[in-house]
Amino acid sequence: METTLIRGGTVVSATGRQLIDVLIDGEKIVALLEPGATTFGTDLAAAVDTVIDATGKYVIPGGVDTHTHMQMPFGGTTASDTFETGTRAAAFGGTTTIVDFAIQTPGEYLQDTLAQWHQKAGGQSAIDYGFHQIIGDVNDQSISAMGELINEGVTSFKLFMAYPGVYYSNDAQILRAMQRAADTGALMMMHAENGIAIDELVSQHLKRGETSPYYHGVSRPWQLEEEATHRAIMLADVTGAPLYVVHVSARQALEQIAAARGRGANVFGETCPQYLYLSLEEQLGAPGFEGAKWVCSTPLRSRAEGHQDELWKFIRTGDVAGVATDHCPFCMVDQKEMGINDFSKIPNGIGGVEHRMDLMYQGVVDGRISLEKWVEVCCTTPARMFGMYPRKGVISPGADADVVIYDPAGHTSIGLGKTHHMNMDYSAWEGYEIDGAVQTVLSRGSVIVDAGEYLGKKSDGRFVRRELSQNLI
Ligand code: URP
Ligand code: ZN
Ligand code: ZN
Repeated sequence: METTLIRGGTVVSATGRQLIDVLIDGEKIVALLEPGATTFGTDLAAAVDTVIDATGKYVIPGGVDTHTHMQMPFGGTTASDTFETGTRAAAFGGTTTIVDFAIQTPGEYLQDTLAQWHQKAGGQSAIDYGFHQIIGDVNDQSISAMGELINEGVTSFKLFMAYPGVYYSNDAQILRAMQRAADTGALMMMHAENGIAIDELVSQHLKRGETSPYYHGVSRPWQLEEEATHRAIMLADVTGAPLYVVHVSARQALEQIAAARGRGANVFGETCPQYLYLSLEEQLGAPGFEGAKWVCSTPLRSRAEGHQDELWKFIRTGDVAGVATDHCPFCMVDQKEMGINDFSKIPNGIGGVEHRMDLMYQGVVDGRISLEKWVEVCCTTPARMFGMYPRKGVISPGADADVVIYDPAGHTSIGLGKTHHMNMDYSAWEGYEIDGAVQTVLSRGSVIVDAGEYLGKKSDGRFVRRELSQNLI
């Protein structure tokens, strides 16, 4: 077994930071040691196979992105990153674990969907991966199958209150799935938007000739996110299921989550970098068809209404439990272009799996969050909430040696031809400059990225069987 010593760095956890060395044996972290530790009187550095100098750098747990959609069929096309391209891009950006969504289309058996996702990811992933299961067809069979999936290490289930006629669940279906989650200890994840009302607004806009990407945002007003979030919370209350609301973009939806948490409810919010930085006016409202690059649901919100600043605040208060990417990339050519005369035909999704750690680190530089909060929302809490802690999300003896050495004196320029390894013909983050850089990434003890060079291989990643998280949240 190879031994590695990461020496001279500042190890950052969700609760503090410390100048301490990290000793790795094979795939695991085995010790945290005072700098300059000796073994039988000799410098430990002389006794290990590899020494990595992390002087002046932060040493953090590998990023855990619990919301990705690699090669997902959606809106008549398929997300453009395969597990191979998407997980390699994630590795470049300091993410060492993803949890992707297996998606059940109506009529399919849940077990068959999960098997398809294993087929897609197996032997193709640069980093470790787990699966959530989307239930697109809540019926007796799929409710019963939830138990089997939990035994297979798939312990969280997503429902859609949006997309009627596609993946949509009505309130009775939501209630039934939540009852099963409460009985089994599974975590319910919710796409909370009132899809019935949205579809009516969409057809009204299109009838008026309002077909540009901007109207994607206008047809999904915050009220319909707030309402659905409130309804999901109430249904979770009735059933006793823990609830994790994904990709929250409206401040009012987060106010609902914060209020529920304030009265002790087991409710958690997730947001994504796009909702913290980008806006309805600047991105969706870009000239011509440009705004299609940022069509995603929930949509980007108005900066004039102050959603972005409030979302940062809710990260600080803890009401946002985790920051994920909702990585769902589509190219402009042939994919986003499907909606050139009709915004409702633009495939929904933004690619960003590569940039989450950097974009959130910029929040540290800008004084929005602390270093520790960065690690908490990008690594530790996602691992904990989704049943992977303490194997993932922490630098501690016994944990997988998934480690990122991050250089606060480095610089990252995001954009095509710069830092961009995702399979997309544009970057949703073109021109973003980050005052820091990923230097080295280790996945289970092996260096897979160093100084911008990929050193891993596509079969490095393994499936992570996740535990039930209910006892941990
Ligand atoms: O626009 C989005 N978010 N696309 C991915 C599917 C989803 O709802 O998460
Ligand atoms: Zn969603
Ligand atoms: Zn998603």
